[in-house]
Amino acid sequence: MNYVGQPIARVDGRAKVTGTASYAGDYAMRGMLHAVLFESTIPCGTIRSFELAAAWAISGVVEILTFQNAMRLHKPKNIIGGVKAEGFLPLQSNEVRYNGQFIGCVLAETLEAAQEAASRVVVRYDERPAKLDFGALLDEAHDPGTQFYQKVSKKRGDAAAALATAEVVMSSTYVMPTEHHNPMEPCAVTILFDGQTLTVRDSTQAVFATAQQYAKTLGLKAKDVVVTSKFIGGAFGCKASFWPHQAIAGMAAIATRRPVKLVLTRQQMFNGVGHRPRLTQHVELGADHEGRLVGIRHRCFNATAVDIDYCETAGGETTQLYACDHVEVKQMVVPLNYMTPSSMRGPGHASGSYAFESAMDELAVRLGLDPIELRLRNYAEIDPARRRPFTSKSLRECYARGAEAMGWEKRSAQPRSLRDGDWWIGYGMASATYPALRVNAKARAQLLPDGCAVVSCATQDLGTGASTVMTQVAADALGLPMDRVTFDLGDSRLPQSGISGGSTGAASVASAVALAGQAVREKLSKLAICDRCSALYGFDVAQLGFSNGRVYLLTDPTRSEEYVALMHRNGGKTIEGEGKVGVIDILRGVLINPGHAYGAQFVQVRVHATTGEVRVSRMCAAFGCGRILNPMMVTSQLAGAMVWGVGQALMEETVADVRTGRLAVKDLAQYHVPVHADIPEIEVILLDEKDEKINPLGIKGAGEIGITGVAAAIANAVYNATGIRIRDLPITPDKLIGVLASDR
Ligand code: MOS
Repeated sequence: MNYVGQPIARVDGRAKVTGTASYAGDYAMRGMLHAVLFESTIPCGTIRSFELAAAWAISGVVEILTFQNAMRLHKPKNIIGGVKAEGFLPLQSNEVRYNGQFIGCVLAETLEAAQEAASRVVVRYDERPAKLDFGALLDEAHDPGTQFYQKVSKKRGDAAAALATAEVVMSSTYVMPTEHHNPMEPCAVTILFDGQTLTVRDSTQAVFATAQQYAKTLGLKAKDVVVTSKFIGGAFGCKASFWPHQAIAGMAAIATRRPVKLVLTRQQMFNGVGHRPRLTQHVELGADHEGRLVGIRHRCFNATAVDIDYCETAGGETTQLYACDHVEVKQMVVPLNYMTPSSMRGPGHASGSYAFESAMDELAVRLGLDPIELRLRNYAEIDPARRRPFTSKSLRECYARGAEAMGWEKRSAQPRSLRDGDWWIGYGMASATYPALRVNAKARAQLLPDGCAVVSCATQDLGTGASTVMTQVAADALGLPMDRVTFDLGDSRLPQSGISGGSTGAASVASAVALAGQAVREKLSKLAICDRCSALYGFDVAQLGFSNGRVYLLTDPTRSEEYVALMHRNGGKTIEGEGKVGVIDILRGVLINPGHAYGAQFVQVRVHATTGEVRVSRMCAAFGCGRILNPMMVTSQLAGAMVWGVGQALMEETVADVRTGRLAVKDLAQYHVPVHADIPEIEVILLDEKDEKINPLGIKGAGEIGITGVAAAIANAVYNATGIRIRDLPITPDKLIGVLASDR
């Protein structure tokens, strides 16, 4: 392979930095209307009436949609490849389930007119008591059963009995706040209905599933809906579902028969497209005096919406991360009158690892063991849940390489023993893991008579570099220079593919692309050996190689034929090949060979001895993610996720007013994310991991593992610096300052 594995710059980099790349909200059409949504101001109850006269009085208002005049929608079942969104569809009844619910939409000739009109809508309600206080309603939790086709609560052995007799038991409760995705590009739709075809420019993690959703929800035929999403400015899970604004945009286009643009405001991104729910986790670890785990119990409670169970599967890795015979994971959800939660980067794992890897650190402190040593004593050589070998696992090497890069030997086990001026210095680490999965993907490769190729797939590039790495994979699979290959994505009419989520994109799409390329090579081989004028006439296909637009003899590369010449002599037709990977091979792969990516996070923090301000001063992490298609893209993905881990650990928190259910934090002035000055140099170490079992290209995916373990590593480092264990995120100065002051 020539291109796979190379740090090649983005094929769309120039378009992005010069502004020629068009995002969903960048399109303008003649006669286009602007849509502005308005929201409920109570958390629970019914709408008694709307007063719309003042809104209609604004010049340029064309339509106002509410439940009273909006078309009836259909709740789709069994959408393949999409993530479930809300339990109800918008503008279908007078029911209000949360504060900030979209209850209507103004369509006007200008954005300003639509905004002004929406602000003038008056709504009267009959309010009912709402469930708003997560902490007070934990007793109302229930087990949601399954999520993503898997049971969420799991058990092996008898954890209760093992904990009752363990020599050492560590038991702690960890709390995490609601968090929001905040991609740079807010959700946006530009949409047109011509009476038959619905054409949608959207920002979505699944063009194909989204087209199905529009069709089924609006009662259209699947073939009559086209969704494109050529460029996406980040998604992180909040563009993986079919949300209310998309259904409303569809209704607006059908109702007005005019092009409509609907862009969520940054504030509406907080009540329109999901979030990582509030979470309380109880972790109990039982060990013998040498630190071997004998029993683990992990109980997780997360907030969900009143009419749908979203489970933040925080116990997802607890059954397989360490060797232990008695493990119990209990997942519970608490229905509340807030917007529906959804997948958010590293769903389950980013949150679960904070609690579980903090607990492991607490156990190490209790036992007087180095945290790495404790993890090595419980190293799972085989998957302890399924009792099968892993396809590959480099976690041991990750610990070693990460520790070496961090200079772990400089760490003192004793808190408050390293100080630099006013700052306590501490070191922390945590394991990281994420399952290596695949979704359905189909790809088509077309080798054109001029020697260029177009490879296509209804996948999408969330900003990760998918179009770049897939061009690399396609060029190698076709034996062509990269500049002669175009990878076409982001269009629901292309060969059907699944969601870009759950770190599945690279493994799924690359597998399909490689197979499509192989199908083209097979057809080229036949031409090469059957064409009497060919230099390769009469040879066996197994003797042929493909490179730089030529078929050649492996034993004598000077004997070769140009693709263009072969095709020209044989009818000059485009050669087409298809590749496909499906659910069946995924399930078989997962059942037979448990596949996971692993990593180890290491951080150094500085905690101000007076103010409690925490600065992350160094970050190193090592990952075993299978084959790396493009080290530049993957390093950037992983480092970006690590930055988010800093936000999760130290800053991010969506605060709601528990009396009204209104979010008090609704923009980036209040929802703090790290900026450059908050982030030290990040060292990402990619292990050279060869996994021949996971899939033909050996890809494990690297979209989400980068955030897992970061918050725990930082909390562990804060403990190591100060002796203060913070069990509720984010670790803000107010949680440290009092203890630091009283200890002086
Ligand atoms: Mo990812 S949170 O599975 O889009």
